[in-house]
Amino acid sequence: MNKSLVQEQFGAHAAAYATSTVHAKGASLARLVELVRPEKHWHVLDVATGAGHTALAFAPHVADVIASDLTEKMLEQAAKLAAAKGITNIETAQADAEALPFAEARFDLVTCRIAPHHFPDIPTFVSEVERVLKPGGTFALADNIEPDAESTPGFVPIQLRDAALLYNSVEKIRDPSHSRCLGMTEWSELIEDAGLRVLHKERTPKEMEFEPWATRMGCNAATLERLRSILLEASRALQAFLKPRTSNDALWFTLDEAIIIARKPVA
Ligand SMILES: C[S@@+](CC[C@H](N)C(=O)[O-])C[C@H]1O[C@@H](n2cnc3c(N)ncnc32)[C@H](O)[C@@H]1O
Repeated sequence: MNKSLVQEQFGAHAAAYATSTVHAKGASLARLVELVRPEKHWHVLDVATGAGHTALAFAPHVADVIASDLTEKMLEQAAKLAAAKGITNIETAQADAEALPFAEARFDLVTCRIAPHHFPDIPTFVSEVERVLKPGGTFALADNIEPDAESTPGFVPIQLRDAALLYNSVEKIRDPSHSRCLGMTEWSELIEDAGLRVLHKERTPKEMEFEPWATRMGCNAATLERLRSILLEASRALQAFLKPRTSNDALWFTLDEAIIIARKPVA
């Protein structure tokens, strides 16, 4: 994936992420803080901070947070939101998730929420997380997932593979900087392979209204129609995963967000 496409795409729509309900108020924000139980002396890195919502949720509970992102315009939004909320222990830093410009064993906690599906090389990102974490440090992840046997039981592997491919192409039509959502099982295996230990995992459904979801990334009317018909005519497996439905004349569907808490072993 072309990283300048990410900067172009998010640069153009940065302000929408400061106010997006899913990002600013999504259930995974409070849930991450609840599961991680941050401590006052902790130094925290938030990777792909976007408009800074995750960094802002942790900041009151820790010593300091570096809110990092590839896209300068997103960092400007994060700094603006922190200033508006009077939060002073956040600094911003431009950083690629796959080549974090930080020393090893620097952070007590690394967070990353609703972003790895943009990273072309997620194993490299996770090994960077492992590198910058102190022994005993925590990795807290939340991201949209693709259907797999764990999230969408009752289908054979080929049906799930097709549904996962179609789901990722829907995301890519909406946002060309989308790389790939992983499945729930794939995520935990990858984290363990990087040398971290998964302590907790869960899935949270997110009810999405189709039109704001698509227009937040600047889709035009033709793309909106194309996406709408793919959703409504999807295979049984994809329908079981996305649950498209109409309510008060608006199209809604469900996205599944994985939350995984992992720890770097002490020696
Ligand atoms: C949906 S936003 C993140 C939302 C945010 N974490 C939150 O909790 O509200 C996705 C972000 O990922 C960033 N991003 C995409 N690829 C990246 C990469 N390789 N390294 C760092 N940031 C990246 C984009 O610039 C964008 O700001």
